[in-house]
Amino acid sequence: MTADPTLVLLLSGVNLNLLGDREPAIYGTETLADHVETARTTAAPLGLRIEDLQSNAEVDLVEAIHGARRRCAAIIINPGAFTHYSWAIHDALAAFDGPVVELHLSNPDAREPWRRTSVVAPVATGTISGFGGDGYRLAVEAVARLLGVSPS
Ligand code: DQA
Repeated sequence: MTADPTLVLLLSGVNLNLLGDREPAIYGTETLADHVETARTTAAPLGLRIEDLQSNAEVDLVEAIHGARRRCAAIIINPGAFTHYSWAIHDALAAFDGPVVELHLSNPDAREPWRRTSVVAPVATGTISGFGGDGYRLAVEAVARLLGVSPS
């Protein structure tokens, strides 16, 4: 199977189902559905499609990454707290051939010291963090550039 050059997998990890309600001073008042909509609205004129999955279970994210191999062109992932310790997600992403954008609403480097370690960053093409919900637009635009896609 060859990857669909228009298909981008948007993954959201643990606790991100609570966005809008969870610590709004840090993560804002928009829901995850709002952010997925931002990604889709950005992707459509670029000829890209977004497949999305949120899970609080590491295994679901690992299996989604496996399922993206030779099927999706790129992955955008906000792993939530898995960012800081999931070597399973690290290894799964390392086995994915296309661009990987690590995404965070907040800027973990400006927060508690334990958030300064990302085990995902070493296997990401790049990281977008600290721009709130606008990060979803920026991440899709970054993927489009990495895939060599231009607006239609
Ligand atoms: C987060 C940052 C992580 O440190 C945190 O555990 C999250 C959200 C963000 O989007 O800012 O759950 O990934």
